[in-house]
Amino acid sequence: MSSMRFAYITDTHLGCNEHGHQMQSRYLGHDAVLFDGLGQWISDNDVAFVIHGGDMTDNGTQEEIDHTNAMCERLNVPVYVSLGNHDLIHPDSMERWRNSGRTSHGAYLPDGQDCFAVDAGSVTVVVISHHWNPQHDHQWIMDQSQAARIDQRQENTLNQLMREANRPVIAASHMVLNPISAQQRNTEEPLYPPPSEYLTSWQRIAASNPNLRLALCGHNHTTTRHDHGSFISCTTGSYIERPAQVRLITTSPEAITVETHSLADTLGLPSELKPEQAWSVGPQDCRAFTIKL
Ligand SMILES: [Fe+2]
Ligand SMILES: [Fe+2]
Repeated sequence: MSSMRFAYITDTHLGCNEHGHQMQSRYLGHDAVLFDGLGQWISDNDVAFVIHGGDMTDNGTQEEIDHTNAMCERLNVPVYVSLGNHDLIHPDSMERWRNSGRTSHGAYLPDGQDCFAVDAGSVTVVVISHHWNPQHDHQWIMDQSQAARIDQRQENTLNQLMREANRPVIAASHMVLNPISAQQRNTEEPLYPPPSEYLTSWQRIAASNPNLRLALCGHNHTTTRHDHGSFISCTTGSYIERPAQVRLITTSPEAITVETHSLADTLGLPSELKPEQAWSVGPQDCRAFTIKL
């Protein structure tokens, strides 16, 4: 079988203003430029579909979902999402995504599922929209605990999807599975570690499914990579922050190859980084790597 390509972007926070978590300056007011440019890049690179890592929107309102649909329509390929905390702020956000989060190429959550599989040639991508709150499913209450959580049904479904795949699997979840290392920031302490129970859930899933080889995560707006032994996890910078980064993932029977492209210069947008957080774009070995299969 020949190779195939998909794109990964994350943390577009559509509907946002200058406030909120960010590592580099946001391209406010440039949504159309960013999505038209990404659509062109997708066409130039023969990309089959897009996985969005979540925080598609800033608040998960209907207005923002409608805007997201208009932007993603410009990509001209199917878009799938692992919803993020910012997508699930209202009690009815999940229902809105299930009912109306889509383009003419299909729904972001196929059949409204919070766990589903996408065919990527010789690899399967398993996508999960996990929970954020101990009491509420699929809702993030901004001022309360943000510990990400996978419930038993979801864990069972992930295990089943990976078993049925019976070939290498890439997972996508919004919450990180690795911190930003101290080495990357040249400091003493790692930053934003994963919640311990959430990491434990994934370690259990990985132990049952040795075909899990890569996990794609968002949330920290930083490009990182971490080796867990049987699989690699990586996080990716926010597409609406400088320098507009997108991952290009190529699958073949022999390897999963991950590259990181910055579209800022091509799109005519400023690319100068905040020097004190220039590490957020990641060192070269986090930006590009190959997993041999
Ligand atoms: Fe985010
Ligand atoms: Fe997030």
